[in-house]
Amino acid sequence: MTRIVHLSDLHFGAHEPDLIDPLLAAVEAARADLIVVSGDLAHRGTPGQFRLAKAFLDRVPGPLLCVPGNHDLPHWNPLLRVFGPYRRYHRAAGPEMAPVWQNADTLAAGINTADRWQWKRGYVSDAQRAKLSETFATAEDRSRVLVMHHPLEHAALSVDPLMHGAKDTLATLTEAGVQVVLSGHVHVSYSGPFRDAPGVLFVQAGTALSTRRRGEANGFSLLDLSADHAQVTIHRAGRTGFEPVVVDDFQRHDGAWQRLPSWAA
Ligand SMILES: [Fe+2]
Ligand SMILES: [Fe+2]
Repeated sequence: MTRIVHLSDLHFGAHEPDLIDPLLAAVEAARADLIVVSGDLAHRGTPGQFRLAKAFLDRVPGPLLCVPGNHDLPHWNPLLRVFGPYRRYHRAAGPEMAPVWQNADTLAAGINTADRWQWKRGYVSDAQRAKLSETFATAEDRSRVLVMHHPLEHAALSVDPLMHGAKDTLATLTEAGVQVVLSGHVHVSYSGPFRDAPGVLFVQAGTALSTRRRGEANGFSLLDLSADHAQVTIHRAGRTGFEPVVVDDFQRHDGAWQRLPSWAA
């Protein structure tokens, strides 16, 4: 079994400073194999915001897999947005744009879905899909997890257009035997099989630290994954720090995820 802490949408610069220490304490207590951050580390992509993000990431206990979000592109500097869109992100999160992590049971890969030509809509290219197929082909009998900022489906009705390339990407992931996709962006937590790809489990974390909440408290997800079972424990900020509030349980049968009854943590 592999345990992954899934953080998303830190939004340093528009964050809750009082939640930083409780969040790090909860991450430490989870004793995870891997800590994922699925984008929007900064709020406007400024150097100061990335300095705050780096100070946070440096304190995260354990291996880290990080991808950028649309808010990590420079908001106020159009020249940098075009010619060096990830220069500041790299200073905080390292040079990798397609990070890969693996242990004996799981291979996790990240891709960048932010697009310098659009404010917030996501994008996955044909080249990225081809690279993902190659990467997951090396996983052998490990579980396969993809990390990306933008969701490949909207869990509920949304006024935002879905990212470009979502349908083709889901087809690629099904073919590559990917079990789980970890995303963020909408600041609302959700987990369930993709409607158009029932063999792939969609796990969306809420925002860990942003002041822009969408009807739920700041939080993160904890994923316990084995070959045919996944448990997603939603943690939310409360009076005594981040506490588990609900557990979603899934079993994989004949290549499709099925939801088991959820329970209060
Ligand atoms: Fe965000
Ligand atoms: Fe976003």
